Amino acid sequence: MGNRGMAWALKVEDFSYSYPGNGEAILRSLSFTVNRGECVCITGSSGAGKSTLLLAIQGLLKGGHCNGRITIDANGWKKPVGLLFQNVDSQILCSTVEEEAAFGPDAIGFTGEETAAQAHHALQSVGLAGFEKRNVDRLSAGEKQRVALAAVLSSRPAVVLLDEPTSQLDEQGKADLVQIIHELKRQGHALLIADHEPGVFHGVVDRLFQLEKGCLRERSFGFFHGSGSYAPGPGGADSSKPASSAEPALEMDGIVWTEPNGKVVLDCLSLRIGRGEFVYLYGENGAGKSSLLRLMVGLESPQAGSIRTAGITAPKPEQLVGNVGLLFQNPQKQLFEDSVFSEAAFTLRMLKYGEREVMPRVNGALALCEVERFAERSPFTLSYGEQHRVALASVIAANPEVLLLDEPFAGLDFPQRRRMLTILSRLQRNGTTIILASHGPLPAGEWVNRHIILKNGKISEG
Ligand SMILES: Nc1ncnc2c1ncn2[C@@H]1O[C@H](COP(=O)(O)OP(=O)(O)OP(=O)(O)O)[C@@H](O)[C@H]1O
Ligand SMILES: [Mg+2]
Repeated sequence: MGNRGMAWALKVEDFSYSYPGNGEAILRSLSFTVNRGECVCITGSSGAGKSTLLLAIQGLLKGGHCNGRITIDANGWKKPVGLLFQNVDSQILCSTVEEEAAFGPDAIGFTGEETAAQAHHALQSVGLAGFEKRNVDRLSAGEKQRVALAAVLSSRPAVVLLDEPTSQLDEQGKADLVQIIHELKRQGHALLIADHEPGVFHGVVDRLFQLEKGCLRERSFGFFHGSGSYAPGPGGADSSKPASSAEPALEMDGIVWTEPNGKVVLDCLSLRIGRGEFVYLYGENGAGKSSLLRLMVGLESPQAGSIRTAGITAPKPEQLVGNVGLLFQNPQKQLFEDSVFSEAAFTLRMLKYGEREVMPRVNGALALCEVERFAERSPFTLSYGEQHRVALASVIAANPEVLLLDEPFAGLDFPQRRRMLTILSRLQRNGTTIILASHGPLPAGEWVNRHIILKNGKISEG
């Protein structure tokens, strides 16, 4: 679809931006428009500036240096622009799902009836009918991303900005999102999406751009064809994987775990993982993957059943420090130090390693995760994907015997996902047991030596 003859909703003119204290421009003289009823997608590697651009349009960049103009024509809609944040936790305000969906329209002056109808419609379209009374804090990340999307849509913004909207969604969630975008286009909304996986939107996106070195280039979907392959590159997966030994790294027997609201999440689940295995744990949004990992490290206790992790029965988190590492689904929950270096050194220092040993181990982990150039930066000034790699470095710096990763691909672009699998393969070769939980299908290639599926509270072999 071309631009001519259509009314624009968003116009970006010669826009440049640099962050405070960081001389180099992240965005350089960008110019583009998005018309009513049109959907534009921006892709680009982690740290390219995609979120920065969306934050600029939403008017949320503080300080720094900017030039040029961003204009929005709301064309009679009550709300000019709404943004789905990359880290949805930072936008959720209310305690229940229905309050969250109703908050926006209520705040901008829709009547009670309109608010209720719009919130209801938004929740239905994201597949959350029946979730209205649920506590948002207790939802899975994929469910939370759906709530946050419903909360943006219920206000009916003229311009809808979506930052990595598929990062936590399973296949059904992605298909639902594409349907929603078709509907929004029909209604005359303008959409701008930033996503590492533009292929998901093929067929609904009108124009695709790549953001690179601060500049936008229009691309065809074909341009990215083949770049999304998981096939191991040089130094990638190794067919000489250590056979898993008989001695288990993890044993769970008859585990029952119920949500505070009574929902049974894990239903008499048993699982045994041998030392040195690399296990891919697949489950749809809300299947209970994160709960299972949290039980393994003692962050939750089961109502019934037994757990033994790295030789410790019914472990408490403090008994596993350094020996069992858990990479959280949301990296921001893991980052709290002033600098990237101290972040990665935290566990080692807690275990009273001398600074002489801390230094090479931390540098090694930072280099492995390709974040050594950020060593002196505050983790909070990094892009989401960069934060994810720092969180991974801080988990692997202590060289844990068992490594648990909860949706580690979220926020990583494709080459980084492949590199992460390469890193994990290398760790496995050195004897680490790895459990990787994901809502995405198993990447092609010989990356793992076991594939298990969590469904209806039970594990089956894939
Ligand atoms: N508050 C900040 N201060 C200084 N630099 C920042 C700040 N926030 C982001 N940056 C830097 O700006 C660059 C662009 O960040 P941005 O979050 O826009 O990237 P992105 O393309 O959205 O990446 P990702 O795919 O990882 O989400 C990154 O190199 C990041 O380190
Ligand atoms: Mg981003």
